Amino acid sequence: MSKSTCTVTINGQKIKANVGDTLIDAGLGGRLVIPHDCCSGQCETCRVRVLSGEIDDLGTREKDTVLGCLAVLEGDAEISYDPVPIVKTTKGTVESIRRIKDDYLEVRIRTGRPVTWLAGQYLRATFAGFPPRDYSPTTPLNLDAEQDVIVFHIKVYPDSVVSSKLGKEIGVGHSVKLRGPFGNAFLRRQPQPILLTSTGTGFAPIWSIAVAASMGQPGREIRVIAGARTREGLYMRDAVRWLQARNVPITLTASDGDNDTVLTERPHELAGPLTSDHVIYSAGAPAHVEAMRTIARAAGATFHADPFYVAEEDKGLAALAGSLLRKARAPFSSATTAG
Ligand code: FES
Repeated sequence: MSKSTCTVTINGQKIKANVGDTLIDAGLGGRLVIPHDCCSGQCETCRVRVLSGEIDDLGTREKDTVLGCLAVLEGDAEISYDPVPIVKTTKGTVESIRRIKDDYLEVRIRTGRPVTWLAGQYLRATFAGFPPRDYSPTTPLNLDAEQDVIVFHIKVYPDSVVSSKLGKEIGVGHSVKLRGPFGNAFLRRQPQPILLTSTGTGFAPIWSIAVAASMGQPGREIRVIAGARTREGLYMRDAVRWLQARNVPITLTASDGDNDTVLTERPHELAGPLTSDHVIYSAGAPAHVEAMRTIARAAGATFHADPFYVAEEDKGLAALAGSLLRKARAPFSSATTAG
């Protein structure tokens, strides 16, 4: 007769569970909350490392990791996950909305208390009276970070439900609720060389990871590739200067590049030779993230990415805006809702 109960060890804590439980449910049975968000295989927040044992990954395996909300126990097992800040809801107000370039805004939100997040994670922002959207908090491009201020880079899509209202119905002083942080594509402080790639506002989490790695691990090899459909979308000139001053190579690409300061290849075509030692973080358009995932897999490299997806209300808009918006359930990077 097959066993119906088993023991799962999570970060060293032994918990009795049922065969067939998801890893998240098994954890909850022992009052241990594995970090999670969507519980439907979309956000990657619940990715855990399998150290040993019998687990059906249900198609979610990436190297030695699986999604805790989908993978189920088939017997005794041991798993672990990296500690992340506790998910909290924090109230704030819009402090400023600055046009960085064309349709790209820097939105600053002053919060009543500090919001803790890891470089690469995302927050769910609800501007009062509007539906929630996920954005990656980031380091200001000119590095003038302030305590209790969260910074987002947001691309404005005409007629979108939220982004098109910024600077209009949503102005300075507007109330915002922030919930999080979520996401699994956050910086791990290993020594391995790191490749950071982005398209569009996927640069927000990539930039915060670059700053954190460069400042926190000065000896670590870091390379950045930032792309946009056209040069108009390369809104990160201040960041480029800062990275270059710290000897962090950054390559810019756009279809209308000049092949001097801005190349014309697509970002994934510039990934260069990679080894199983490399750690890759990618964010932005689904096609870009999937291309990088394939390249990482072929090299045996470690790959981190959370999904971008399109809010229901903006599906029509997404069809128009095409590849720069993020689609539902594609197991990849930096979760930010378009619109
Ligand atoms: S909680 Fe598992 S993928 Fe979102």
